[in-house]
Amino acid sequence: MLGEAARAAGYRLVVRDEVGSTMEEARRALGQGDAGNLWIVARSQNAGRGRHGRKWGSPSGNLYASLLLVAPCESALAPQLGFVAGLALHDAVARVTGLSAPRLALKWPNDLLVDRAKVSGLLLEGESRAGRLDVVIGLGVNIASCPADTPYPATFLKQHREQAGIEAVLAALSDAWVARFAAWSQPGGFGPTRAAWLERAAFLGEEITIRLAEGPFTGRFAGIDASGRLELDIAGGRRLIDAGDLYFGQPNAGAEPR
Ligand code: BTN
Repeated sequence: MLGEAARAAGYRLVVRDEVGSTMEEARRALGQGDAGNLWIVARSQNAGRGRHGRKWGSPSGNLYASLLLVAPCESALAPQLGFVAGLALHDAVARVTGLSAPRLALKWPNDLLVDRAKVSGLLLEGESRAGRLDVVIGLGVNIASCPADTPYPATFLKQHREQAGIEAVLAALSDAWVARFAAWSQPGGFGPTRAAWLERAAFLGEEITIRLAEGPFTGRFAGIDASGRLELDIAGGRRLIDAGDLYFGQPNAGAEPR
């Protein structure tokens, strides 16, 4: 069930058993004329997807959710919704587990870490039609298990708090989304969102490596700018990065992003 604040704000929930991907279910609802503010949750997915076309293994026991938003904002601002959703996820997991920053941290652009191990990933997809941008935010939260074969550290919530469960995380997440989205929707709302995000940011001030199409860049993670780009201080100046995969420590040619 969604949280009380989410239900009061008119959000709806559809729960399915196994689906291909909740992202596709949300797109299908959009195609059928759904008005948005719809959460779609599946017990498992057989074609779960992650960022950059990667697979997202989706056995039952974890949370697989997509939130459909119809024309939530001007198109140019849509990438900021990833930060809003990341903060809502941080709030929710903090509420359910009692964990807090810096142990519970957000990794740019939008992963959630516990003790530097990935516990959740977030995927933002847009659908542009007739000058309108609709958005689907997908969240996968490892609750009962995490994949054993990731090339980065991974964890799951029950490892940290045995009582953590799908229902509690979904209720807390849906309520936290309402609050964080309302705050962000105020004029100038990215300022406080950005500040809150930075308070919870992993690797801030540390040496990181960003892998871009043109090659890896290593520098100091200085923050995010007023539009959410990562600020990387490298020899010779500051580089602003729109998108990419973030590694910390030394670049490793064979490694996958964390
Ligand atoms: C990532 O870290 O690469 C993002 C993972 C996003 C996974 C979620 S699970 C619910 C939704 N449905 C999907 O197919 N993907 C997202």
